[in-house]
Amino acid sequence: MKIFLDSADLDEIAALCDTGFIDGVTTNPSLIAKSGHNILDRIAEICAIVDGPVSAEVTATDYDTMLAEGRKLAAIGPNVAVKVPLTKAGLQACQTLSHAGTKVNVTLCFTAGQALLAAKAGAAFISPFVGRLDDIGRDGMGLIEEICTLYANYDYPTEVLVASVRSSQTVVDAALMGADVVTLPPKILTALYHHPLTDSGLDAFSQDWAKTGQSIL
Ligand code: E4P
Repeated sequence: MKIFLDSADLDEIAALCDTGFIDGVTTNPSLIAKSGHNILDRIAEICAIVDGPVSAEVTATDYDTMLAEGRKLAAIGPNVAVKVPLTKAGLQACQTLSHAGTKVNVTLCFTAGQALLAAKAGAAFISPFVGRLDDIGRDGMGLIEEICTLYANYDYPTEVLVASVRSSQTVVDAALMGADVVTLPPKILTALYHHPLTDSGLDAFSQDWAKTGQSIL
């Protein structure tokens, strides 16, 4: 399963890319706003340090402007995936951009029916928002299971990109369901490798080792 970083913070992205397990980055208008940087500059900066797909989202809601924005964002670099919302205009823009060879990430997906349409529109990625569904008392991971089954039934190449992730357990559940990608805020990535028993175990080993007076080097 691929791991993307859900961030527009360049320092954060650079630090975590060093780990070698970041396969791409996703951004959205809220994350760009939080960064305080110009969207075109920031996406170019991210593309310069990340080899995998970097999702950059259009902000228009009508087809023509979405298309123009999508083409401008795609021109930033070969690894830009243009993000469009799951609306009628967004699906039409997805179809046009995908036919022209641009990778499209269809975002704000909340039902399997929406995901079906995104696959038919040629999306490279579908982004179901698990956390936001859970926030309103719905079953976010149930949606992931449905979409994975539906895509497998028809061999759709669209990758299931699990978004709006609030816990490290969601990452494990997504992997067990066979989702293609998860996009994570940095704190969830940290939570994925951190365990208190690892820390206390390491402390005990270090203390016992110090008593031996040995050195491996
Ligand atoms: C990523 O593509 C999404 O924009 C992001 O995961 C949304 O997360 P949120 O629901 O925590 O804002």
